Amino acid sequence: MEERKIDVLLGLQWGDEGKGKVVDVLTPRYDVVARFQGGPNAGHTLKFDGKKFVLKSIPSGVFQGDKVNVIGNGMVLDAALFKAEAEALENAGINLKDRLVLSKKAHLILPTHRLLDSAIEASKGKSKVGTTGRGIGPTYTDKVARTGIRVGDLLDPNFEEKYAAAKALHERTLKSLDFEYDLSLTEPAWREGIEYMKQFTFVDSEHYVNNLLKEGKSVLCEGAQGTMLDIDFGSYPFVTSSNTVCAGACTGLGIAPNKIGRVFGIMKAYCTRVGSGPFPTELFDADGEAMSDRGAEFGAVTGRRRRCGWVDLVALKYAVQLNGVTDLILMKSDVLDTFKTIKACVAYKLPDGTETNEFPFDCEGVEPIYAEFPGWQTELPEMKSEDEFPEEFNSYISFLEEYLETPVSIISVGPDRSQTIVRNR
Ligand code: GDP
Ligand code: IMO
Ligand code: MG
Repeated sequence: MEERKIDVLLGLQWGDEGKGKVVDVLTPRYDVVARFQGGPNAGHTLKFDGKKFVLKSIPSGVFQGDKVNVIGNGMVLDAALFKAEAEALENAGINLKDRLVLSKKAHLILPTHRLLDSAIEASKGKSKVGTTGRGIGPTYTDKVARTGIRVGDLLDPNFEEKYAAAKALHERTLKSLDFEYDLSLTEPAWREGIEYMKQFTFVDSEHYVNNLLKEGKSVLCEGAQGTMLDIDFGSYPFVTSSNTVCAGACTGLGIAPNKIGRVFGIMKAYCTRVGSGPFPTELFDADGEAMSDRGAEFGAVTGRRRRCGWVDLVALKYAVQLNGVTDLILMKSDVLDTFKTIKACVAYKLPDGTETNEFPFDCEGVEPIYAEFPGWQTELPEMKSEDEFPEEFNSYISFLEEYLETPVSIISVGPDRSQTIVRNR
């Protein structure tokens, strides 16, 4: 049996590009869908048959028959939130226990990690990151500090000792930050969550995924967050705490770099960001409001209004290079249907007056330089093939492809699964 390559789908901006929708659309082509980083900070929305689901820790392949869905070792899981998410899917008729496996090496978000997230954010005052408050940073901190607890530890007879040691360490920090808390509000649900979690199959994802590949199975990796939130390459410190770039799929699942095949990079036709941090093309005018309203730009996890702005090709070129993107996927162009003029940032003017199209160490205070295009002013959502696209929209797509030196192979023109145009070229 010929071994297949693993394809990776990931966000190229600051998250919420539409990853959940496209993973769901692509799932019929694959046998396995695997998440490799992040946790319940993600909110991946899927719409089909008049229904809407928002997935947080569970891969977006669970709605399509008997696909295998993997929670990789690079993820962090909150047992209480996992239980709530999984039970909601089971109630909707998805037989999850047959199609979802959990890596023993994924790290557990403890109730005290969530408290630490809040306490550390509060201590930062105005320079807070604006996290999702799900305990992501403190859990990855413990992983790197070698004080974390993993899914596989749930089966260890010494689990309670490990938990007590981690909790004691966290409580000392919470006290030193003068943070008031009441663990009795969250610990019971978390304990119920860990009992529920034990009903699932735990695997060594590195062996499991590689064995599936040897059997000739095809795998799609589903990224969370986006490249500009990557811990190494994003707009640090206003980032998440994992590697969201393609290399994260190798460390977050246990697959070798030479096993990676196509890399699908998802971008919106404009740009959004939730939380704090620099955003060079951010708009504070009627155009920004129109993007926010027409695109329903509210966080799928926290409900926060997403900041909106023009597409940033400097940041996107950087993201395409970091990830080795082979295919671009263009989302939400329909949100710009009413715009007379469309802008795209093609260079930054740095504070010292020089211009660059290389993403700099710090993008705070850079001035975007724009190219302008006539809007298409036609409704895209009803279109079923690219032959129906207006000329102005085709020109905009061609410009993106040329600037980013990568073909656009899928175009999404609405939130529903059916509103997706796959180009055959
Ligand atoms: P993810 O985190 O990358 O999976 O993205 P989110 O689900 O957080 O945010 C994307 C939002 O845009 C969701 O509300 C989707 O239903 C919606 N969406 C996805 N694709 C399109 C599209 O092409 N057009 C419009 N108007 N909405 C879309
Ligand atoms: P999906 O997968 C958009 C942002 C938060 C904050 C920063 C750090 O739906 O695209 P964290 O809780 O991770 O420590 O927060 O990252 N953030 C996201 N923004 N989409 C996401 O996920 C995000 N996950 C985290 O708003 O600025
Ligand atoms: Mg999201």
